[in-house]
Amino acid sequence: MAFYNGASVVALLLLVSTAARAAGDGLLLNGNFEYQPSKSQMNGTRVMAENAIPYWKITGFVEYISSGQKQGDMLLTVPEGAHAVRLGNEASIEQQISVTRGMYYSITFSAARTCAQSEKLNVSVAPGPESGELPIQTVYTSSGWDSYAWAFKAKRGLVSLIIHNHGEDDDPACGPLIDSVAIKTLYPPQATQNNMLRNGDFEEGPYMFPNAAWGVMVPPISEDDHSPLPGWMVMSDTKAVKCVDSAHFVVPHGARAVELVSGLETALMQEVRTVPGRSYRLEFSVGDAGDGCVGSMQVKGYAGQGSTTVTYSSQGTGGHTRASLEFAAVADTTRVVFVSSTYITKWDGTLCGPVVDDASLACVSQQQPPARRLLRL
Ligand SMILES: *[C@@H]1O[C@H](CO)[C@@H](O)[C@H](O)[C@H]1NC(C)=O
Ligand SMILES: *[C@@H]1O[C@H](CO)[C@@H](O)[C@H](O)[C@H]1NC(C)=O
Repeated sequence: MAFYNGASVVALLLLVSTAARAAGDGLLLNGNFEYQPSKSQMNGTRVMAENAIPYWKITGFVEYISSGQKQGDMLLTVPEGAHAVRLGNEASIEQQISVTRGMYYSITFSAARTCAQSEKLNVSVAPGPESGELPIQTVYTSSGWDSYAWAFKAKRGLVSLIIHNHGEDDDPACGPLIDSVAIKTLYPPQATQNNMLRNGDFEEGPYMFPNAAWGVMVPPISEDDHSPLPGWMVMSDTKAVKCVDSAHFVVPHGARAVELVSGLETALMQEVRTVPGRSYRLEFSVGDAGDGCVGSMQVKGYAGQGSTTVTYSSQGTGGHTRASLEFAAVADTTRVVFVSSTYITKWDGTLCGPVVDDASLACVSQQQPPARRLLRL
């Protein structure tokens, strides 16, 4: 992964120490859509002019939604404030943001499905081009609103963030609702001698809204994408993992952890450089986030050819157990993988699962260095 090679890490450190944050962490300008378009630029709920919503540019069929508005029998709610937007087929919203070239950023926004069945949102920055398709058909909250994270590396000091609905629904008013678009600078942690995993404690990650008690979903991320959860890839077709914070959940260590909410359909993975033949110890915590997820939980941890199964009985009130796995590396990269093998639903019907936190990997035995053996002869 080019993300962490030596030269760019040095460059990144220089940037971190000298550059002020160009875009402060938090909502984009009018990121919650509370500044309204003027009535003259609307036809019913439809926004008619490209620049009608302050600080945003729109294309296509975009509606301006107010909390409490009805669609058929469905009452539309808004997670933050009183307004949101809805993107019809091929509609998009766009905002220019000032960033620092070479830095990594994570975008968090809230989205809700309305009547369309399978929905995806295309998030991109230009120039880049960097883009990602975020599957939003699985709903993880009882309100219907989930927050999603996506990350990019800034190639210029000024970029345009675009959220696009490439939907093909017969009814343009069946597109997803969008609210609360925020940005956070990422400072990807490096591996150390004591912990060869980068961001093993999951402390660095996407922006989390101070008053959002539902966590932030990290959708599938492949090796070629930048991760809003630095160091980690999320391997899945359409399902996500959930970042949880200590302000709203119980986390085993530090301020953040990851809840594996999608059972066997999602794996959390990191590749680590290893020396074949050496022994390593992987340690991690498995617990519950104190969010009412009750049941028998099971997490499998894999490292190289070794694996361990951790069972944890959750009362849904918080708590954790520590697990460890010793293995001998068989290659010069080793994949560390965490998967939950259980599917649990909460009383309100939403998916939940075990939390994983505080993971570390260290070398426990070194082969006798050949040079010393020679000296003894
Ligand atoms: C407003 O929308 C209605 C219904 O779609 C349409 O008939 C009407 O022509 C529109 N008015 C303007 C000014 O575009
Ligand atoms: C997302 O949209 C951008 C810009 O419209 C496009 O270049 C890109 O191919 C799309 N990505 C995906 C994965 O569809």
